[in-house]
Amino acid sequence: MPQENPEISADDLATRVWQELTRAPHDRHHEWRTPVLATQGIAASGPQARTVVLRHADAVSWTLCVYTDARSPKCSELQTQPLAQLIFWSKRLHWQLRVSALATVELEGEQVNAAWERVRQSHAATDYVSPMPPGHIQPARQSIKPDPGDLASTHHLAVLSFKVNSMDWLALRQDGHRRARLSPSGSLLWLVP
Ligand SMILES: Cc1cc2nc3c(=O)[nH]c(=O)nc-3n(C[C@H](O)[C@H](O)[C@H](O)COP(=O)(O)O)c2cc1C
Repeated sequence: MPQENPEISADDLATRVWQELTRAPHDRHHEWRTPVLATQGIAASGPQARTVVLRHADAVSWTLCVYTDARSPKCSELQTQPLAQLIFWSKRLHWQLRVSALATVELEGEQVNAAWERVRQSHAATDYVSPMPPGHIQPARQSIKPDPGDLASTHHLAVLSFKVNSMDWLALRQDGHRRARLSPSGSLLWLVP
């Protein structure tokens, strides 16, 4: 297991964590590229968790960014209850990161246009042009492939921005696990693992 200095300072730990978070969107093999996003389900549906791709991480504003289909249930869940968690696990680092954040759902505007420009040339573009919303019952034998013409017109890409409130970092170590709570103000609190 990799052994980080147990006496690591708040600044150093936050820097290391953000180093990994900012690398992840650019590295297909980084385990933190695909965190689990947990939201509060609407009405009695209970907690909802699913894998997403981390698209951007900003160490200055403590913001994380994910793309989704604007019609997916996670969007209405976050519009109703913007408090969410993103969970990252890295086997390489032996680190778990539980990020508590306040989400904003961007459905239009500069951020969405820029995101669409980035994905429209890629294979992922087809994820955002389906005529039917995600989770809709698939009619039997109907092709799930969108019409290539759809790529030029309407898309349903939404940008989810997560403003981090706090991060719960857990490092599994042979000589004793380490756990700390990090906040954007720079405070660090060591916790019993
Ligand atoms: C590896 C992986 C990456 C995924 N990335 C995304 C993503 O970036 N955005 C997204 O909306 N769904 C993504 N999904 C699909 C979601 O996990 C989920 O099935 C879908 O978004 C529907 O979620 P919802 O019904 O809770 O809104 C991904 C699934 C996998 C397995």
